[in-house]
Amino acid sequence: MDSPVLSKGDLKGVWQTRPRRATPVLLLLLSFLCVCACLEEDCVLATVGRPVSLPCFHNELSALKNVSIEWRREDEVVLASTWEEDRNVEEWSVNGATLASDALLTGNLSLMLLTVDPIENEVDYSLVTVAGGNQTSLLCSVCLRSTASFSSPLVHEEAHGEQTTYICSSAGGFPEPTVYWVINGAEEPPEGSVTTQAASDPDSHLYNVTSHLTLSNASVSNVTCVVENRFMNKSLTSTSQGVQPNSEAKDPSEPLWIFSLALCVAVGTMVIAAVVYQIHLDRKSKRLKKEYENSNRGHKRQFPNEGEAEVLKIETDV
Ligand SMILES: *[C@@H]1O[C@H](CO)[C@@H](O)[C@H](O)[C@H]1NC(C)=O
Ligand SMILES: *[C@@H]1O[C@H](CO)[C@@H](O)[C@H](O)[C@H]1NC(C)=O
Ligand SMILES: *[C@@H]1O[C@H](CO)[C@@H](O)[C@H](O)[C@H]1NC(C)=O
Ligand SMILES: *[C@@H]1O[C@H](CO)[C@@H](O)[C@H](O)[C@H]1NC(C)=O
Ligand SMILES: *[C@@H]1O[C@H](CO)[C@@H](O)[C@H](O)[C@H]1NC(C)=O
Ligand SMILES: *[C@@H]1O[C@H](CO)[C@@H](O)[C@H](O)[C@H]1NC(C)=O
Ligand SMILES: *[C@@H]1O[C@H](CO)[C@@H](O)[C@H](O)[C@H]1NC(C)=O
Repeated sequence: MDSPVLSKGDLKGVWQTRPRRATPVLLLLLSFLCVCACLEEDCVLATVGRPVSLPCFHNELSALKNVSIEWRREDEVVLASTWEEDRNVEEWSVNGATLASDALLTGNLSLMLLTVDPIENEVDYSLVTVAGGNQTSLLCSVCLRSTASFSSPLVHEEAHGEQTTYICSSAGGFPEPTVYWVINGAEEPPEGSVTTQAASDPDSHLYNVTSHLTLSNASVSNVTCVVENRFMNKSLTSTSQGVQPNSEAKDPSEPLWIFSLALCVAVGTMVIAAVVYQIHLDRKSKRLKKEYENSNRGHKRQFPNEGEAEVLKIETDV
């Protein structure tokens, strides 16, 4: 059974392609209601590879002395059980499907499945009572839907001259996912820039998906790939930093900045050196002056300007 399941996005598309025409709109409204009803059908969601219980509760069976029941998957019998005088005399099942041993007593006739296949995408299970191989009454009907988580998407880049292709891949999920891209945290990709392919494994029925987004380098700071599993209500995302449009001029102010710093350091060093030298000269001239004054104590100064002349000479050198 393949009941049509449309995502909200599909519905929006339908509405947009048929604007302002009374009859189609009415038909669409009806189909919309139908789709809503289908979507609202209560299905048990099973994760591929994990056990699941299909619920069914009926107390009145224990009143019957002899009873035979069958759990059916569509038309195929997956479990058959017969009680005589409240004793389970026969039970048979496929793929390890089980009932609780005290099912008749407690009225909990839920079917335990050890594992589900993704091929069981919305399959109907039913519990019936049988007599002589014929169905006598329908006790329960349960819809089972299986799902599997996709792996975390991986995004890598391939450069093609002016353009970069971002490739997003994710594997092992069910059902076929919806993949979309977000650029710079908010923008939709331009039309025609995305191609997505999903492949289903013939044995496991799980999907692998690959999506390509091709953009010119400019104005992309990051891209996000979103892989959405509509059954699980789950979106997986991966963000990749965009390619800088011109890697050589990555930060044009950087060399200038380094040059300024070097200049500052050079000038600073020179100033400090000059100050230190000046202090050294001051001390030297004071010492010379003292020596000169000491040597001429009591005598007439012969070379009154010698020390000062030297200082002056050096100061003009600096
Ligand atoms: C239940 O089955 C047993 C054994 O086949 C039989 O003897 C008995 O009469 C049956 N009881 C009823 C109520 O049909
Ligand atoms: C009914 O039985 C199933 C297993 O057969 C069990 O998983 C489930 O919890 C039971 N439900 C109740 C309400 O006891
Ligand atoms: C089962 O149904 C077939 C026809 O549908 C009928 O011929 C047969 O007698 C039924 N068996 C019992 C035990 O009711
Ligand atoms: C675009 O990005 C690729 C990958 O980094 C690079 O090889 C290419 O030169 C870029 N083109 C331009 C026009 O910046
Ligand atoms: C992606 O880019 C947008 C805009 O430049 C920024 O706001 C956002 O934080 C970025 N996201 C990540 C995960 O880097
Ligand atoms: C899906 O991907 C897995 C792991 O990446 C790989 O082993 C498997 O062969 C792929 N299946 C298909 C149908 O591409
Ligand atoms: C999915 O998400 C919506 C809103 O976030 C929530 O109302 C709904 O119950 C969820 N469905 C499932 C199956 O988790």
